[in-house]
Amino acid sequence: MSDVMSSVTLRPMRWPDIEAVHAIETAVFEVDPWSAEQFWGELAQPTREYVVAEDDGVIIGYAGAYLLPPDADVQTIAVAPVAQGRGIGRVLLEELIANAVRHDCAQLLLEVRSDNESAIGMYERFGFESISKRRDYYASGIDALIMRLRPLSTASERGDS
Ligand SMILES: CC(C)(COP(=O)(O)OP(=O)(O)OC[C@H]1O[C@@H](n2cnc3c(N)ncnc32)[C@H](O)[C@@H]1OP(=O)(O)O)[C@@H](O)C(=O)NCCC(=O)NCCS
Repeated sequence: MSDVMSSVTLRPMRWPDIEAVHAIETAVFEVDPWSAEQFWGELAQPTREYVVAEDDGVIIGYAGAYLLPPDADVQTIAVAPVAQGRGIGRVLLEELIANAVRHDCAQLLLEVRSDNESAIGMYERFGFESISKRRDYYASGIDALIMRLRPLSTASERGDS
C-alpha cells in the first residue's frame, strides 16, 4: 500500500469534484449509474463523508459513507478503470473504515451485486461477512448481498502496514 500512497493522495470530496467523479461513475457502473444530482444530494447531507483519490491532481477514485452511529453504510466506492488493480480501492475502503471509527460506529454495512467478484473479493479481504441476501434486487434479476464488518478498527490498530 505504501508505494500506492506515495503517488496517490486522499482528500474530502468537494462540489467542484462532482464532474470528474460522475465521469468515473458512468464508466464503471453500466447499469443505473448515479446522476450528478445524486452526488450533489449526497454532499449536502451532514451525515455523509465522501473522499476522492487523486494521482497527480487527477481524480481516479472516490468513496462515501453514511455515518449514523452506531452504524455506518458504504454508499459507494469506485476506481477509474485505468487505475484499478493498484490498491486504490483498498486505500479508499480503509479511509471509510477510519472515518467510521472516528465517528464511534460499531459496524460498517454495505450492499453489493452478487456477481461483482472484484468488489466482494475486496470486502472479504477486509473481513466483511455476508449476512443476508435480497433476491432479484437488481433490475437484471441479480441478487444483492448485504455484507457487514464488525468490530471496526483502523489499519494501525490492526497492525497492518
Ligand atoms: C471494487 C473496486 C473499487 C476495487 O478497486 P481496485 O482499486 O481495483 O482494488 P484494489 O487494487 O485496491 O484491490 C483490492 C482487493 O480487491 C480484490 N480484487 C480486486 N480486483 C479483483 C478481481 N478482479 N477479482 C477478485 N478480487 C479482486 C482483491 O482482494 C484485492 O486485494 P489484493 O490485491 O490485496 O488481493 C473497483 O474494482 C471498482 O471500481 N469496481 C467498479 C465499481 C464497483 O463495483 N464498486 C463497488 C460497488 S459495491
